[in-house]
Parts: sequence; structure tokens; C-alpha cells
Amino acid sequence: MRRHDVVVVGAGLAGQRAALAAVGAGADVAIVSKLHPLRSHSGAAQGGINAAVGAEDSVDTHIYDTVKGSDYLGDQDAIEFFCREAGPTVVEMEHFGTIFSRGDDGSLARRPFGGAGFPRTIYAADRTGLALLQALYERLGTEPFTLYEEWDLTSLIVRDERCQGIVGFDRRTGSFEPIAAKAVVIATGPAGRIYGRTTNAHTCTGDGIAAAYRAGAFLKDMEFVQFHPTALLESAILITEGARGEGGILKNGKGERFMSRYAPHVLELASRDVVSRAIWTEVKEGRGFPGDFVHLELMHLGRERIESRLEEICDFSRKFAGIDPVVEPIPVMPAQHYMMGGVGTNIQGATNIPGLFAAGEAACVSIHGANRLGGNSLLETLVFGKQAGIAAAAYARTAADPSIVVADGKAEAARIETMVRRPDGEDPATIRVDLQRLMDAQVGIYRDFATLADALAKLKALKARYAKVRVRDGSKAFNLNLVEALEAGNMLDLAETIIVGAIARTESRGAHARTDHPKRDDAGWMRHTLAAYARDGPKLSYAPVAYTRWEPKERVY
Ligand code: FUM
Repeated sequence: MRRHDVVVVGAGLAGQRAALAAVGAGADVAIVSKLHPLRSHSGAAQGGINAAVGAEDSVDTHIYDTVKGSDYLGDQDAIEFFCREAGPTVVEMEHFGTIFSRGDDGSLARRPFGGAGFPRTIYAADRTGLALLQALYERLGTEPFTLYEEWDLTSLIVRDERCQGIVGFDRRTGSFEPIAAKAVVIATGPAGRIYGRTTNAHTCTGDGIAAAYRAGAFLKDMEFVQFHPTALLESAILITEGARGEGGILKNGKGERFMSRYAPHVLELASRDVVSRAIWTEVKEGRGFPGDFVHLELMHLGRERIESRLEEICDFSRKFAGIDPVVEPIPVMPAQHYMMGGVGTNIQGATNIPGLFAAGEAACVSIHGANRLGGNSLLETLVFGKQAGIAAAAYARTAADPSIVVADGKAEAARIETMVRRPDGEDPATIRVDLQRLMDAQVGIYRDFATLADALAKLKALKARYAKVRVRDGSKAFNLNLVEALEAGNMLDLAETIIVGAIARTESRGAHARTDHPKRDDAGWMRHTLAAYARDGPKLSYAPVAYTRWEPKERVY
């Protein structure tokens, strides 16, 4: 039987940082990941990481920008902690060897990002996530830990009211293996593949969030889904906000710099929810280009600046859209990018289940509230990954030995293998694609009751189809058909929490824009949504938002 003090599920920045912290606290640590750590989705983050460093900026301004960006749904105690940790976190990553871009005087280069009152986004060209991931992986590699690579999480084992381990699917052998753990950290990243048009990698299927939900953890604020304003038209590949931070401008089909209508003070550097809605509105009101898109223009910045600071997006635009941003505009439209919601935690990453912790995009602390600011996600992975690792190791020090048995793996195998043994039934891929189409069409930037209620009915029909899903590939080794089936089940459960939360929240706040309830309603809805698993669908309850210093105001950019 495999046993560890702390099992971290997910090997991106949050998972690695949690593992490093737990090892540092003396725990025996394992990481379980469906990918090689350097292929984690953290590596796709382009534009940068926020930290108020230098005399001109201040931590208080970063806190205020984040509170305002969250449309006052972020917990202010958590945001204060987060922003205070930003400077030391970036310095630590620099000491770990991250090659950040530099100004002429050798100091860390910073660029403006949306919703920020100061240019505080520190970057490594437009490959910041990859630069951080490589440095952290090298640092972690100097410590003792066990890596279960190409393992999928299938469930958490919660017994005697505490999390005591996991069951994983070892892709190489096709077996279901229990791993006993005194503490488990979920750091499996996003669930963006619930949508078809997303900047998220194909692997971002919310496996850890779904496992925690089914095990009894509350999911918090799932209805808040971020759409990044600028993704390539056809492929939805991210075109970093750094492009607008460097001075890129948006134009509609009439040649108008339309952001002056929506954010007269900061134009393209309004928060993402505002810019995404503006693009959507321009296109829906007939002011887009034929084919429904707008232009992101960089040409005026000049070849040298574009190719040095935005090298990767030049490459993406040339290869995937046949567009050279140095000489022509980039056709863009919003795409799903980030989930503000996730497994509800406190600042230390603890969930409502003793022994279960979460960090990174899989978690909801909540610092982003109803809308995340660009550059706060990479920071979140590192700040709260570390906290979760420290807390998990501390919990493990006094926790009793887990009572996991080999039969736990066998029971899981029996449950899942019914899908493989079924003589007929539907392929998981068709259900996945239908789910993505549904979410794109009916649970997007703008929402209303009738469309959401219809989406819920269709989602229930998809779940009924999933109950008869069939894995046609009967092979043991690398059965990716089976992996797809597991992922599809996870995505369906999470999509349901998004839709049910969105139906219930009869207001517009941050990324949740209800055309039938267009105003923010602080009296009724200044509260977090909590979704608890039940067989017939999520049960909702609500929790208060934590305040420290910032009174809610109308959000204007
Ligand atoms: O636009 C971007 O580079 C994305 C950054 C982020 O999501 O924080």
C-alpha cells in the first residue's frame, strides 16, 4: 500500500509550491499528476504576475484594485494577505532562478494590466508562466518527493469525517490504486474545457474540483466564469493582456476605438469582464467585422517592441491565424479563460473536510470574487500553494494513520469498469462536445433566466446520457478513452454547479452579467454561493463576504 504524509494532486505551480512547502515542513510528500509537471497548464500563462514593488506603487493600491476588480465579492482579509505576500513571492521566485524581463536599469520590468491602478505586472516576455514553472520545478527537484506521473485522480477517500487519501488511475498499468495520505492538497487547476471556446488546455477538466465536490467539499462561487477579451478568432489561443498593456488597441468594424464608450478613463485596460462585454456588445450590435470579431492592433508599437516583448503571441498569430501582428491587426473574440469559483478554502487552503486542502485555480479562497484581475492568477498559485503545503504538513503531523485498504482501489475499479464492460452506449467524446456547445451557447458572457433554465434541462439530459456512457477501448495500458469518460463526468458535475449558481444569482456582478437583472444588488447578493453535492443536483447555501477597509462602490473604469 502506498502511503505518504501529504499527497498533492496536480503538478502545476500551485501543486509544486504546495509540495515544496510541505517537504520544507518535514513531511513525506507525493505529487500525483496526469501530466509531466512541465506540461502543466500553468506554463500557458503569458502576461505576468502582479506585485507592488518599488517606491511608486503600494500594496494598498494592489489590494484596492483587487477588491474593486472583484466587484466587492472578494474576501478582503484574504486579499490583504495575498497582496502583502506578492513582493516576497516574486523575489523568492527570482532567487529560484526565474528569468524575468528587466528594465534598462536592471530592475524588474513591469507592464500595465487591466483594472490595475499602476503598471505592476512583472513578466518574462509573454512566457511568464513557463519561466516560473521551470524555475520552481528545478528548485523542487532538489528536494525528496515521490512523483506519480500519468495518474488520474478518480476519487478522494473521506472516512471518519476526514480525508484519508485518494484513489488514482495509473494510465500505464490501467489499475486503480489507493494512496493513503494524512492530508491531501487539490491543485488540479482549472475546468475551462467545460466550454468549447476556451484558452485552457485540453487537460483542464476540473478533476480535483469534481472529486472534492463529490466527497463533500463545498464549491464556492462557481457561477463566476471569466472570459478573456482577446483570444484568437478560430483557435481561441490566448493573446495576452500584455499586448494591451504594451499599448495595443481594440477597433471595431467601423474603425472605432470602441472602448471609449465602455471605459472612458482607461479604455482597453479596463477589467476583463468590462472589455469582454464591450467586444460582445459591439459584435452583437453589428459593429464587428464580417464573421463576428474585432481587431487588436499592435502595429503602431513597432517591430522591435512587438517581437521582443510579445514574441510568443507573434508566433501564435503567425502560425495559427496566418496574421503577422507587426504589419496587420489580430482578429480576436473573448474566450473562457478562468474560473473564479472552486473548492472553498480559507487563507491556509483548508476546506470544510478535515485533511483536505486546495490551492490555485482549483480553489476559491476567495480573492477574485466576481472577477479576477490579470496577473493575480500566477501570484495566487504561489502564495496559496505555499500556504496549503504548510497547513497540510502541519495537519499531517498530528493526524492518525489513514485506514485505507487495498479493497478501496478494487471498489473504485468495479465502479468505473462498468463503463468499459457495457455492450453498447455512447462515446464520452460526443457528450463532452455537446456539453461544450451548450455552455458556449447558453452560459456565456451574458445570461438570463430563460436561457439558463433551458441550459439546466439540457445539462440534465446530458447527465442521463452519461449514465450510459461506454468506453469502447478495452485495453489496459494508456486507455485514454476511459480517461475521457472520467473527465466528461467531472465536467458535467461542475457545469451543473455553474448553471444552478447562475440561475439563483439574480443580479449582475463582475463576470456574471444577467440581462434580466442588470444591476448589482449588494443588499441581496453580497454573499458567496456554496454548492454541496447531492445526487439530484447541487444544493446551494450562502456565506458572508469578509470586509476589512473597503466599502462597496460603483465600479467605474
Ligand atoms: O492575458 C494574460 O496574459 C493572462 C494573464 C492572466 O490570466 O493572469
